[in-house]
Amino acid sequence: MTIEDCVDKGTLRTTCDPDEAVLSSDVTFITVGTPNKEDGSIDLKYVLEASNMIGKALRRKNEWHLIVVKSTVVPRTIENFVRKAIEEASGKVAFKGFGLAVNPEFLKEGSAIEDFMKPDRIVIGANDEKSMRVLEEIYSSFDCPKLATNINTAELMKYANNAFLAMKVSFINMMGNLCEKLPGTDVEVIAKGIGFDCRIGPLFLRAGAGWGGSCWPKDLKALANFGKNTNVRLPLIEATLEINENQPYRVIELAEELLNSLKLRKISVLGLAFKPNTDDIREAVSIKIVKALLDRGAKVSVYDPAAIKNVRQIFDNRISYANSALECIKDSECAMIITEWDEFRELKPEDYARLMKRPILIDGRRIYNTKEYTRYVKIKAIGLGETCPSN
Ligand code: UGA
Repeated sequence: MTIEDCVDKGTLRTTCDPDEAVLSSDVTFITVGTPNKEDGSIDLKYVLEASNMIGKALRRKNEWHLIVVKSTVVPRTIENFVRKAIEEASGKVAFKGFGLAVNPEFLKEGSAIEDFMKPDRIVIGANDEKSMRVLEEIYSSFDCPKLATNINTAELMKYANNAFLAMKVSFINMMGNLCEKLPGTDVEVIAKGIGFDCRIGPLFLRAGAGWGGSCWPKDLKALANFGKNTNVRLPLIEATLEINENQPYRVIELAEELLNSLKLRKISVLGLAFKPNTDDIREAVSIKIVKALLDRGAKVSVYDPAAIKNVRQIFDNRISYANSALECIKDSECAMIITEWDEFRELKPEDYARLMKRPILIDGRRIYNTKEYTRYVKIKAIGLGETCPSN
C-alpha cells in the first residue's frame, strides 16, 4: 500500500496545524530530529518545540491524550524536560491529564518501511499502565518480540543499540588496520570466521573507510557527552568514535604508499553518499577524504550515482564532477572506492587499466577480488595484508 492509497482511503491525513492534529487524535508521536550542539551534547530544541505545541493544544482538550517520543533522546529527557514542557504549556499534570511514553525506532535509511513493517522487536517505555496499554494495543498486530520497560531504560536502549552496532564496525576496522600490517592476513576472512560464531553474528562486520550518516555519529557523540555529564566513563564509546575519526585517512595513507606524494595528482573518488542507495552525505567519510586530498594538493574528480548535487554544495568548483564512473577514472592516477554502490562492482579491472593514466586502485569498501585485479592494476584494499595467498 502506498502513501497515496492511504490518503485516498482517508486513513492518512496531514495538517500543518498542531492544534488540529492533537484535537483530532488520541495519540501524538514526536518524531523530530535531535542534532548535536557544538560540544556534542544533544540539542533538544525541536523536541521541546513540539512538546510545547502539543501542550498548548491540550489546553483545548478534555480527554486524556498520549504523547509518545520516537525521537532519539538521552535518558531522563522525558522525565526532566518533555514532561515539564507539556505540563507548563497545557496546565495539566502528567499521567492524569496526559500519558507519556517512549517508543524508539531502529529503522535504517533506505529500508525504513520494511524495517518498520518487519521489526526485530518493538520497545515500549512507559511509567504508567494506561500509556503502556494504549501503545501495546497500537502494535498488537505486529508479530515480533515486544519489550515493555520504563521510560529511562527505553531512552537508553536506542543509544545502546546504535553504539553496539557502530562498535562492531569500528572493531572490524581496527582489526583490518592490523591485518594491513600482517602479510597474508585478510580482515574479510576474519569477519567471516568470527561471524559464524552465533554469539557474534555475521552482520555489521564489513570493514571499510569508516561509518557515517545522520544517526551513529550524532548518537555516539551525545552518548559520550551524556557519560561525561553523568560522571560515568564510557571508554568503548570513546574508542569507537576515535577509530572512526581516523579510519577515512587510512585510504589516503594507502594511496600515499603507492604514489608517495598526492600533490597535483588526479585522484578519482568513486562514491560519496554515506552508504549506497541514498543521496545522503551527512557525516559521510567521503567529505573528509576529499578535504584531505585537497589539503595535499591533489586534483580531485568525484562521481556518485545519487549524491553529486549535495557534494557540489560543499566543494563547488574546487573539485570536478563526473557523469559516470568511467568518466571519473579517465586519465586519473589513483581511484578510490568510498561507497559500495553496485554500479562500481560492475566495473572490470580492464576498465581501470584502459582508462587511467596510472592504474592504481584503493578499494576502501572491499568490493573487488584483489587477486583478479592485481593482474591489471596496482590495488590496495582496506584490511588486507600484502600478498594474501588465500585471496
Ligand atoms: C542506523 C542503524 O542501523 C538503525 O538501526 C538506526 O535506527 C538508525 O541508524 C538511526 O539511529 O536512525 P543508518 O544510519 O541508516 O541506520 O545506517 P546503517 O545502515 O546502520 O549504516 C551506518 C554506517 O555504517 C554507514 O556509513 C555504513 O556504510 C557503515 N557500515 C555498516 C559499515 O561500514 N560496515 C558495516 O558492516 C555496516
